[in-house]
Amino acid sequence: MKITVVGTGYVGLVTGTCFANTGNTVACLDIDPQKVETLQQGEAPFFEPSLSELMTRSIEAKRLVFTNNKASAYENADIIFICVGTPTGIDGRCDTSHVLQVADDIASHVADCNSQPIVIVKSTVPVGTTHKVAERLRGTCAVANNPEFLREGNAIEDFMRPDRVICGIEDDDAKRVLTKLYGPFVGQGRPLLMFDIRSSEMVKYASNAMLACKISFINEISSLCERNGANIDNVRTGMCSDNRIGTQFFRPGLGYGGSCFPKDTLAVIEMGEDANAPCLVNTAVHEINKRQREWFVDRILGHFDYCVKGKKIALWGLAFKPRTDDVRDAPAIDIARTLLSAGAEVTGFDPEAWETFQQEVPDIEIAMDMYSALDGADAVVICTEWSQFSAPDFEQVKALLNSQVIFDGRNIYTPEDMRELGFQYYSVGRPTMEICAT
Ligand code: UGA
Repeated sequence: MKITVVGTGYVGLVTGTCFANTGNTVACLDIDPQKVETLQQGEAPFFEPSLSELMTRSIEAKRLVFTNNKASAYENADIIFICVGTPTGIDGRCDTSHVLQVADDIASHVADCNSQPIVIVKSTVPVGTTHKVAERLRGTCAVANNPEFLREGNAIEDFMRPDRVICGIEDDDAKRVLTKLYGPFVGQGRPLLMFDIRSSEMVKYASNAMLACKISFINEISSLCERNGANIDNVRTGMCSDNRIGTQFFRPGLGYGGSCFPKDTLAVIEMGEDANAPCLVNTAVHEINKRQREWFVDRILGHFDYCVKGKKIALWGLAFKPRTDDVRDAPAIDIARTLLSAGAEVTGFDPEAWETFQQEVPDIEIAMDMYSALDGADAVVICTEWSQFSAPDFEQVKALLNSQVIFDGRNIYTPEDMRELGFQYYSVGRPTMEICAT
């Protein structure tokens, strides 16, 4: 099939590359000529495991091209995927203007060329947006919604072997085309579910809202554990052994960040306000997530009696989660900014996200390896659970730190182990370990 993908951000680039990999001919359209040039070399503009290799393979096989020429991108397309951004606007609402602009572009192309591509909205959009796209196309093309469920750092795997594919689609011919397109990715317990368009749009938000809710829920219970002398590890294990509760997205820590959960939770709250059906759970989820970071940074400041002027604090992990260089809404940003404005010297290390982080927080000093970040530091704060932090050389850590203090925002160590190793150890929802008197 001949596919055009509009927007080469995270979703568009992964979608285009994976469809090209199954034999389709894909043109990825982006308005940024510099980005297009980089992409043509097989270089992804962000870090995502396996993506560049797959891109290069499809570019060499001439199944994947990148362009900023709308006419050539839309020419003869059987399917056009709209994958442009839907950021939170200045009024706090999901801004769908880029999606609607692409719909207008497609409408004028269709009018000029008399073609009839299927237009699929993959961007995350509030309920009703796909119908607005259909209105802009004035009935000339079949329109569908097809949300993505890709996790950064696992995006290729999630696309190739999805738990499910959701399509909001109401046109029978288009249903047949999408069934064929997704054939290589579904089956063997991975369903292709076709619903009405509005339900499909809602599935996307409801899924992210549910996952965000699990995270805020376990973080709220963590706070209760701390105040009541319980240990969240035991409480979590006890809860998760009930199959109805399950284990995933139930890790306590600094809360969620990234480009999706924070934005989508807010969009659900806005949708509720617009529909006069306030989303009370989602409002609490958002508040708890905000509070979690504030509470953790307060704990760091509290350790230093709220006087960190001249103290050196090391951050391990800057990305919003491991296996990405994305720092959007990363807890490390709030933590670094608060510490810097309180007068601390902050040094950070991240295997991938150091450059993106420094653009956000220019005053941070970046260390090029995890140990040199600790040199002379008064404490280390673990903000992201990169695997290389899970079993460091603790003797070296101790030797480098000025005081043996660890703030573990991701609960990657065991409190008892840390006490034995001689650290003062703070984590989330578990007892704080004081240094053993020798
Ligand atoms: C998320 C969803 O998982 C994808 O299904 C969805 O397609 C995507 O948003 C999107 O809407 O585009 P992503 O933002 O890449 O994917 O990251 P996740 O792996 O879901 O993690 C989100 C945040 O939750 C991270 O900050 C992570 O540290 C945090 N988290 C996750 C926890 O704090 N605790 C957990 O137990 C799990």
